Amino acid sequence: MKPFRGVPVWSLEDAGDRHLEVVHPSDLTIARARNVIERDGLLLVRGTPFNDAARTFSRLSEEYGIADSYALQMQYVAYSMKDRRAVDDVAVTVNDRGPLQIIQPHSEGDSTSQLDLFGLYCVNPAMSGGENILSLIDQRADHSNLRAKEKAILGAELSADDVAQLREDHLDARVVLAHCPSICRILKQTSAGQVVVRTVPLEKARSALTGELYATYWDNVTVHDHAFHRHQFELLRHLALLHGPAATDYRPFMHVEDDSPWGPADSDSGSLEQTSSLFRCHVLLKLQAGDLLVFHNRAWTHAVNNWPVHEQRQLLAMYA
Ligand SMILES: [Fe+2]
Repeated sequence: MKPFRGVPVWSLEDAGDRHLEVVHPSDLTIARARNVIERDGLLLVRGTPFNDAARTFSRLSEEYGIADSYALQMQYVAYSMKDRRAVDDVAVTVNDRGPLQIIQPHSEGDSTSQLDLFGLYCVNPAMSGGENILSLIDQRADHSNLRAKEKAILGAELSADDVAQLREDHLDARVVLAHCPSICRILKQTSAGQVVVRTVPLEKARSALTGELYATYWDNVTVHDHAFHRHQFELLRHLALLHGPAATDYRPFMHVEDDSPWGPADSDSGSLEQTSSLFRCHVLLKLQAGDLLVFHNRAWTHAVNNWPVHEQRQLLAMYA
C-alpha cells in the first residue's frame, strides 16, 4: 500500500508477522498472545464468540497484573460515561459519533488515567467504511510540541476540606497548585478555588506490560490538537477511503465529545509533515464480525474512518 508522507501503510494482506499476527481461536494461547503484544504487534483473533473474546482479554489482564483496572473500567467507569454503555460488565460500546465523523489517532485513556492493554471486538462491521487505522508511535520522534491537558486544583492556602470539595466529581485532579500559567478552562469554581484544565508537556511513562518507558499519544494529547485530526483526514483521503461529499477541509469531520474535559480543540502541534514523523507505520484493518483485535495501548494509537449514514457499525472496546 502506498506510504503516506514517507510512513508505510500496511494492510491485512501485506502487514507481515512483524506488525500483525492473525490467529485462529483454536491456535490461541496466552503465551502466544503475550509474545505478539510485547513485541508491539497487533493480535487479530479471527472468528471468536464474544464471551471467549472477553475471557481472553480478562486472562491477559490477569497475566499483566492489571485485572483490577479492567474491572474498574468495565464495571464502574463505563457507567459514568455519557457516550458509552457497559456490555455485560466485560466490554463497553465505542463512543457515539455524528454522521460522517472520523476519529483522530489516540491511545485509550489519558495521561492522568493511564491504560496499558486495549481490545476491540467487532459485532457488526459496516458494509462500507468504518476501517480502523492502527498507528505505531515512533518512540524516538520529537514529541516536544505535544501537550497533555490535565486537571488541577488551583487556589491559595486551601484547606483539606476545600480540596476535597473541589475534587468531588474531579477525582483525576490530583495536583494542587497555588499558581498556574497554562489554564485552558475552568471546570469548577468554589469560594476557595477552582478546578482547571491546564497543559503540560507530554512525558514518557512506564508500561505495566513491558516495564519500558513509552511516549503515548493519549486522548488528552490528541483530541484537542488539530494536527491529529488533520493528519487522520489527509491519510484517509490519501487512501481514498473517506465517505461523504468530496472535501478538502478536515474540520467538518472532527469528533470531540461534548462532555470531554479535554475539549475544545484549541491547539495545533504542527504541520502534516511534523505529525507524520510521530509514527513508524500505519496498519489499515477492516474488522469482520467475530474479530478480536488486541494490542499494547502505550505503543499504538487507534483511529477510525467514517461510513455512509445508512450503515450500522457495532464495535465493542475492552481496556485495562
Ligand atoms: Fe478509543
